[in-house]
Amino acid sequence: MFISKLERAAMGYTYDDVLLIPGPSRIEPKGVSVESALTRHIKLNIPIVSSPMDTVSEAEMAIALARLGGIGIIHRNNKKEVQAEMIQKVKREESLIIRDLYTVSPETSIQDAIKLMKEKRIAGLPVILNNKLVGILTNRDIRFLKESVQRVQDVMTKEVVTGNVDFSMEQALEIMNRKKIEKLPLVDGSGNLVGLITAKDIMKREQYPLAVRDEEGKLLVGGAVGAFDMERAKKLQEAGADVIVVDSAHGHNLDLIDSVKRMKREIDIDIIAGNIATSQAAEDLISAEVDGIRTGVGPGSICTTRIVAGIGVPQLTAVAQTAETAEKHGIPIVADGGIRYSGDIVKAIAAGASSVMLGSLLAGTDEAPGTEINISGRRYKTYRGMGSLGAVMGGENDRYGKLGSGKFVPEGVEGAVPYKGKVADTVFQLIGGLKSGMGYTGSPTIATLRENGKFVIVTQAGIIESHPHNVMLLSEPPNYSNRTF
Ligand code: XMP
Repeated sequence: MFISKLERAAMGYTYDDVLLIPGPSRIEPKGVSVESALTRHIKLNIPIVSSPMDTVSEAEMAIALARLGGIGIIHRNNKKEVQAEMIQKVKREESLIIRDLYTVSPETSIQDAIKLMKEKRIAGLPVILNNKLVGILTNRDIRFLKESVQRVQDVMTKEVVTGNVDFSMEQALEIMNRKKIEKLPLVDGSGNLVGLITAKDIMKREQYPLAVRDEEGKLLVGGAVGAFDMERAKKLQEAGADVIVVDSAHGHNLDLIDSVKRMKREIDIDIIAGNIATSQAAEDLISAEVDGIRTGVGPGSICTTRIVAGIGVPQLTAVAQTAETAEKHGIPIVADGGIRYSGDIVKAIAAGASSVMLGSLLAGTDEAPGTEINISGRRYKTYRGMGSLGAVMGGENDRYGKLGSGKFVPEGVEGAVPYKGKVADTVFQLIGGLKSGMGYTGSPTIATLRENGKFVIVTQAGIIESHPHNVMLLSEPPNYSNRTF
């Protein structure tokens, strides 16, 4: 019985075990599209997702990634109110139309109006009477105030150029250019003020052409929740999260799946659940109507689950198995953990993933919340597993079901990764490598790479051949390091 159990065991492969075979191609890397699905309803412009870890994803990372076309998932190692504030910060960062406006009435004293402008750091206040727009007070109106001015109505600009609530972005921009104005209040058919468009926000749209935004022009962001934390899920939805990630080390826990079913009934936004590594787990999560699946049990750079618990499936096999099942139901897979080079992203997608989730590759960037440290003259940033001693003892996180137990068995380590500068530079290299891989395999889109990518299994000698060898590296390129720290 035991021998046959071993004989029936399947082979499991991970990134280093394979290479993609070059194929006939007329595809140039610069001509490919890397758009992909994160979930049933959310599309990304680059297939990169930041991991919900307390040394990777807070508001700053989420803002930067969404502007580049990916998405950040805010970690949950904090009070739900704190996490909700981070989500709100991302949602407030940019907006096509500002709807929750600060306004004054014509009777407001000029001192109060100036105080409000200073406090909220806004350069223009719409003036309303019975919700109708009657003027606008801008910095220009208050620059040279005479002593006689007491009320807003004494100096406000009364002839206000307004836009219609149904205006397209192009129409708004055209009017603002023609009339040389920075702010365009929007009114409905009865003259009620309903919002404001600012030139600053329009310029941001031009500055970040790949940014992923909701229908109000706000950046997309996700938040992680524990499997049974309905309250947190509702709080994040209220704060404006676009997607919830049910964050567990064992997504095939059947109680978790029951809880996800309940969450699906009470939450209106998309839900990604995981982590899993098998087809059966994918099937079971899909029966709970999840909108996306997070695959990866133990491949992460800071993970010790495989060593401590003896559990896991080599990541490429896990991705291929879960993707095969999820594909039939139109559910995208996020390949989570173990990605060290851009080539691993190409392999993950060719194995069936629609996006990749990154921890260590992002933790060294400016936008990650880890602490910068200096070791022997080199700069590093701290990076730790969410199942590590420090993360579990220092936070609210129960990803490994160990909170409150006082003493516990960690499944992750605490460490540091080399400092890397702006996340935009790291993402540029990662997407550049992905596009090269798409060129070599003749794949103009992520969907074709998923279909066309053909693997060859390599030996240990093949791995050695793949890396630079028989040479002493004199400098480190921005996309490759074989440093062992
Ligand atoms: P990378 O390789 O990108 O992996 O650094 C990030 C992923 O690792 C998972 N993770 C953990 N796994 N113990 C684990 O076994 C941990 O303490 C831990 N913390 C994070 C998680 O899936 C993350 O996205």
